[in-house]
Amino acid sequence: MTETYLTQPIDQQSARVLADAGLRLSLVDTADQAAFDQWLLADFRGFLGGRNDADALAEAREYLRDNRTTAVYDDAIPAAASPVGTVNSWVAPLTVPGGAAVDSWAISSVTVAPTHRRRGVASALLGAELRTAQALGVPLAILTVSESVIYGRWGFGPATWATEWRVDTKRVRWAGPATTGRLSFSEPEEYRETGRAVLATIMAGRAGEIAMTPHLADRLIGPHKGNPDASKYRLVRYDSPTGEPEGFVSYIVKDSDDFVRHTVEVNYLAAAKDEALTALWRYLLELDLVAEVHIDTRGIDEPIRFLVSDIRGARVVGEQDHLWVRILDLPAALSARRYERDGDLVLEVADDLGFADGRYRVRVSGGVASVETTTAEPDVTLPVSSLGAVYLGHDTARHLALAGKLSGDADALDLIFRTAVPPRLSTWF
Ligand SMILES: CC(C)(COP(=O)(O)OP(=O)(O)OC[C@H]1O[C@@H](n2cnc3c(N)ncnc32)[C@H](O)[C@@H]1OP(=O)(O)O)[C@@H](O)C(=O)NCCC(=O)NCCS
Repeated sequence: MTETYLTQPIDQQSARVLADAGLRLSLVDTADQAAFDQWLLADFRGFLGGRNDADALAEAREYLRDNRTTAVYDDAIPAAASPVGTVNSWVAPLTVPGGAAVDSWAISSVTVAPTHRRRGVASALLGAELRTAQALGVPLAILTVSESVIYGRWGFGPATWATEWRVDTKRVRWAGPATTGRLSFSEPEEYRETGRAVLATIMAGRAGEIAMTPHLADRLIGPHKGNPDASKYRLVRYDSPTGEPEGFVSYIVKDSDDFVRHTVEVNYLAAAKDEALTALWRYLLELDLVAEVHIDTRGIDEPIRFLVSDIRGARVVGEQDHLWVRILDLPAALSARRYERDGDLVLEVADDLGFADGRYRVRVSGGVASVETTTAEPDVTLPVSSLGAVYLGHDTARHLALAGKLSGDADALDLIFRTAVPPRLSTWF
């Protein structure tokens, strides 16, 4: 698949729309350093980053060169080498309920220069990405978003939710089970391969997680170049009593005027086993000279409240949509996952862009769905974005119905689609 998605020609429909607006849609040859650097700098600028030094650029070049890299250029600007629009994509295995890894079109680095905003550039880029994914037979597209108001119009729905926590470590004591295993400091460079393997196990074990690229994995293990806090990062690994690497935590300690009240900012807490989770949480809570642990991008089922002596000492300070899912090939997507209850539902799906539009009978037997088109009366009518929102097992059907984004038997849909363990994505991409 790698070679195909890199070489698939640029989408002609979007290329024409942009050409009519005096703009040029083009794939970027990531081996052309000058062109790729311009693309990377435009991407950093889009996300309000700095210009970045040569080391950071070199690192980004290395990490991102195998992504499909697309740019929009305004050739009317004299000597314009800098794109006015950027996007990149790759085929990421997404873990779905039941544990299968489904090829998904991961979209990242969507930026449009403020000088060219609200002229339809992002629309053209997104349309091109979705049609390219469909042409390659990829059944889903996925992304994480800077703003929740942008992507619903292209059929994406919020499929996982993330929580942010602050734990008052002067208030709580560890109240979880006795912890086991061995904790030790490590350096990102020496732990890199082990850390990537630990992350691969974690991502394969939970619906909503995606297989890590080296770019994503290494950012969880330690800082990328150009991170202003790079020198403050600490990495602690967890190994089981028999010496199996099963988790790690990377973090920085933020300065405080009061030397006994520092804040630990967790970059990532990785736990492939419950024993790793409890040992690493306990480690964080019992750090000396620290008054607070701050951590984000956790699942909505983060158990920390039940592991401390005072439930209110561990507070959720934020909860928001995280992974957005866009179904492109409905029969393929729905039959790729497993279901915890059997049932029979007719879904009427509306998709303005035409990919998943239609009426489908979904029969689940033994947890496996068979999907076919039908003319039977629908049990549930919904836009494709709402189907994306329930696809990974979240219990949002009733909320969508209340909001008018689904009609019919929301409870029947919920019973079949929801899972006991909610989906989670614990990284950004
Ligand atoms: C978000 C961004 C890519 C939009 O690009 P753009 O070319 O201005 O978007 P378009 O002109 O194609 O807009 C398409 C539609 O989305 C809407 N839209 C775009 N950005 C929006 C935003 N931030 N909030 C609300 N609506 C937005 C437009 O109003 C338009 O709606 P319409 O079709 O009803 O007219 C651009 O503003 C940007 O680069 N922002 C900073 C980086 C960022 O946040 N990227 C998203 C990463 S997930």
